[in-house]
Amino acid sequence: MITIKKILFPTDFSSFAEHALTYAVAMAQEFEAALYMLYVEEVLPYVPGDPERKFPDPDTVAQYADKAMENAIDPDAAARIEVRRFVARGVPSDEIVEFARGHEVDLIVMATHGRTGLKHVLLGSTTEKVVRKAPCPVLSVHHPEHEFIMP
Ligand SMILES: Nc1ncnc2c1ncn2[C@@H]1O[C@H](COP(=O)(O)OP(=O)(O)OP(=O)(O)O)[C@@H](O)[C@H]1O
Ligand SMILES: [Mg+2]
Repeated sequence: MITIKKILFPTDFSSFAEHALTYAVAMAQEFEAALYMLYVEEVLPYVPGDPERKFPDPDTVAQYADKAMENAIDPDAAARIEVRRFVARGVPSDEIVEFARGHEVDLIVMATHGRTGLKHVLLGSTTEKVVRKAPCPVLSVHHPEHEFIMP
C-alpha cells in the first residue's frame, strides 16, 4: 500500500520553484499529507579576514529564508494543510536527499530548474542529483513559460 503522508518541497525561491509549489500544495491537500518546505543554505568556506562582513551571517540568512517560505504559501492553503518549514546548511542536493531519508518523506516535489535556470540544460544539477539519489519518488515540475531547447 502506497501512502503519501509527507511531501517535501525544496525551494531556492526562484520562479520555477514558485510554480512547483502549486503542485506540492495541491498534492498535500489531495493526499492529506504534511508539506515540508526546505531551503538549503550554501555556506561559504571559511574566509580568513572578513572585517567588512561581506559575507552574510548564516543565521540571518536562515531567518530571512524561513520568513520567505512562510510568505510563499497562500494563507488559505496554509489553513487547510499542515506546513512545516526547515533550513539546512550544506550542498543542496545532499541535504535534500538526507532530509528525505531522515524524515521518511514519501514524495519530493521540485522544479526542473532553479535560480540559474539555464535553458539549454534539461535539468538543473540539484534536481538531477536528487532524482538519482532520493529514497522516494520525485515529481519534477517544469515551468510552462520556459521552454526546453533540445540539444
Ligand atoms: N539551495 C536550495 N535549497 C533548496 N532547494 C533547492 C536549492 N537549490 C535548488 N533547489 C531546488 O532545485 C530546483 C532546481 O534547481 P537547480 O539548482 O537544479 O537548477 P538551476 O539553479 O537552474 O541550475 P544549477 O544550480 O545546476 O546551475 C529548484 O527549483 C529548487 O526546487
Ligand atoms: Mg541551482
